[in-house]
Amino acid sequence: MPTDAVSDVIIVTLDPERWRDYRAVRLEALRHEPAAFSTSAADAAMTPEREWRRRLSDPAMAYRFAEYQGRLVALAGVRRADIGERDIAVVVSVYVAAEWRGRGIGRRLVETVLEAARQWDGVTRARLWVAPSQTTARTLYRELGFVFAGESPEGELILERPLG
Ligand SMILES: CC(C)(COP(=O)(O)OP(=O)(O)OC[C@H]1O[C@@H](n2cnc3c(N)ncnc32)[C@H](O)[C@@H]1OP(=O)(O)O)[C@@H](O)C(=O)NCCC(=O)NCCS
Repeated sequence: MPTDAVSDVIIVTLDPERWRDYRAVRLEALRHEPAAFSTSAADAAMTPEREWRRRLSDPAMAYRFAEYQGRLVALAGVRRADIGERDIAVVVSVYVAAEWRGRGIGRRLVETVLEAARQWDGVTRARLWVAPSQTTARTLYRELGFVFAGESPEGELILERPLG
């Protein structure tokens, strides 16, 4: 990878027709970083085509991907919380391939999905879950204004910030 390659990385949305590319980068994330996610790669590998397509077309979800020369190297998503917490947008699936880290791609992606969530009527806060072991992710989220809001029964940290 040339050192200036990051300037050729673009942030894209995916047409549902590209669900296989989404699946591939998501499975890569789960296989390479199992401690970072509550879903297992084995479970995700069983997810049917229609579910991958749905996530790319559901208006209550927004996924963004970093693409370099046609290959997806990172992703992040956001979805509206369920009925009862409609003011919350949940950030999910944040991952940057190891060789692309430390170049601002993770930050760009999270900022982009937060911007997508701001377009949803009535959404005022963003929330995410992060494992205590994911120190880089925790630093990124803190720099983006997320603060501690609780702990899940599984021991994950719950972080929140206003969407503003
Ligand atoms: C967390 C992750 C997405 C960050 O992606 P990235 O593209 O490397 O992040 P960025 O380059 O945008 O860096 C954002 C901030 O993270 C922090 N950071 C980045 N690399 C770091 C490192 N090696 N050590 C400590 N902090 C680091 C810095 O605060 C950085 O801000 P700065 O550039 O202003 O210094 C990436 O490390 C990753 O995929 N980790 C494994 C999966 C994961 O933990 N996902 C989160 C699930 S909740």
